[in-house]
Amino acid sequence: MVAATQQKTDTYQFTDRNFNTLREIVSEQTGISLSDHKRDLVYGRLTRRLRALGLSGFDAYCDLLQNNPGEEMEHFTNAITTNLTSFFRERHHFDYLSQELIPDLLQQNRLQNLRVWSAGCSTGEEPYSIAITLRESIPNIDNYDVRILATDLDTNVVKQASSGIYAASRVEGLPKEQLRRWFLKGKGDNAGSVRVNKELCDMITFRQLNLMNAWPMQGKFDIIFCRNVVIYFDKPTQAVLFDRFANQIQDNSHLFIGHSENLNKVTDRFSLIGKTIYRKIR
Ligand SMILES: C[S@@+](CC[C@H](N)C(=O)[O-])C[C@H]1O[C@@H](n2cnc3c(N)ncnc32)[C@H](O)[C@@H]1O
Repeated sequence: MVAATQQKTDTYQFTDRNFNTLREIVSEQTGISLSDHKRDLVYGRLTRRLRALGLSGFDAYCDLLQNNPGEEMEHFTNAITTNLTSFFRERHHFDYLSQELIPDLLQQNRLQNLRVWSAGCSTGEEPYSIAITLRESIPNIDNYDVRILATDLDTNVVKQASSGIYAASRVEGLPKEQLRRWFLKGKGDNAGSVRVNKELCDMITFRQLNLMNAWPMQGKFDIIFCRNVVIYFDKPTQAVLFDRFANQIQDNSHLFIGHSENLNKVTDRFSLIGKTIYRKIR
């Protein structure tokens, strides 16, 4: 009891110098640019790491990250990322996919070997929503080779995503028919959770990947979702990233970005064709 009270009231000195050191490391490692108003958030998320490591304060933590990070760099970047997501977030993208893009690709006979990348997939709701949309809108989908790559920097969310298990509350808003078709309700010890159907899981490969590092993928993608990831990056970092996306996607193929993001003054290799939907033009 005493220990629990002690833990909750622990406070650490957090200097400007500590904050600046940490944001330099974050920016270098992840591309995420932390503004001044993120200071309290950084403090809150990292005090847990200090306690877990039994460190005396932020000077010692900065020293560890700068000189001998080992596994701590992963815990650090996991702690800093913001993973907010949901099934069918920004539904207009999924409507576009099922009502316009898939019928077009079907007509052009471009569904064979369809490759989709969910870059910054968080806990998986985005790639599973893509998989549901593809399965619902491509007739006889098993006759085609359709695959989704889902990647994220944060190792915790990738693990969670690949388990395919969610609290039932995460899928509450979905139509009953979709729930019945794509999710198994947990029973007994698993009551209150749902598991994504195997047909969806089989379409998706989950991998940890830092978008700032080299990408191991050889082939090009037909569709890229990178939504609500670059809002945390500065413009020069965004410019480099979208240039790399342009190199990694087929000509005339589609890129979906988040509701508060745009490619103005970032790249001229994509053209806006709908609400936060772009097509590669060069
Ligand atoms: C707010 S979530 C967005 C999830 C999903 N795309 C959506 O729109 O619902 C942003 C995700 O980007 C990931 N992320 C941030 N920086 C990254 C990087 N450098 N490489 C890969 N993923 C990154 C975070 O870990 C986080 O899971």
